[in-house]
Amino acid sequence: MTDDNSTHFGFETVRKEDKAGRVAGVFHSVAAKYDLMNDVMSGGIHRLWKRFTIELSGVRSGHKVLDIAGGTGDLSHKFARLVGPEGQVILADINESMLRVGRDKLTDLGHAGNLHYAQADAQYLPFPDNTFDCITIAFGLRNVTDKDLALRSMLRVLKPGGRLLVLEFSKPTSGLLEKVYDTYSFRLLPFMGKVIANDADSYRYLAESIRMHPDQETLKSMMDDAGFVETRFYNMTGGIVALHKGIKP
Ligand SMILES: C[S@@+](CC[C@H](N)C(=O)[O-])C[C@H]1O[C@@H](n2cnc3c(N)ncnc32)[C@H](O)[C@@H]1O
Repeated sequence: MTDDNSTHFGFETVRKEDKAGRVAGVFHSVAAKYDLMNDVMSGGIHRLWKRFTIELSGVRSGHKVLDIAGGTGDLSHKFARLVGPEGQVILADINESMLRVGRDKLTDLGHAGNLHYAQADAQYLPFPDNTFDCITIAFGLRNVTDKDLALRSMLRVLKPGGRLLVLEFSKPTSGLLEKVYDTYSFRLLPFMGKVIANDADSYRYLAESIRMHPDQETLKSMMDDAGFVETRFYNMTGGIVALHKGIKP
């Protein structure tokens, strides 16, 4: 149970003002091995989830894109190619370790000029109103303390007609899949985290935070309440992941 002053950090109830610090600890700890762990944990499938996100983004030459909670920059990498020299991509993340790994990786991949980096909190985006054609938040919203505040902040900085895409773990659509997935997440994930990244706790948090995140319909309602229109979601891998889309009216 949480009251007005408390929230979840995985299965733990913590004070709201303590959550960001706890989340920061996780991502400082996993940053160096983040990309490797993503590939191992998902068997590479996270690349397909991200590809579908890019397809649905409608991003094209000259667009301005914000990739919030962008971390090590998989989406920003693709967007920077799509928007071309006339466009702009901002890879924003609250965590300096994740941002550093992302910036180093994308610089090595040859990106410069149309890709910028910002240390920013999704709840208080430091950009003017009506700035972006598209905003993505991939596997990030789950970690944000006040998700409603973050959704309103994203709505504010989107241009009218601009789209928000939220890629996030969600609720499996079949009971059998849910059982298998539970065993995988609570037994195998922390074990792999321990062996590969010497960090079982962070991967236990990952499993717990996924279970505490709003399901498909709840997140859709939250987007409606924040003021997005034409909201809908697409289940992927049996609902293990969902992509939510909403438009700024
Ligand atoms: C699981 S990673 C996702 C990285 C990348 N988007 C991807 O899909 O691979 C989650 C990211 O959310 C960031 N994050 C957590 N809370 C945030 C907040 N309040 N504002 C912005 N970023 C946040 C973390 O620092 C981390 O880099």
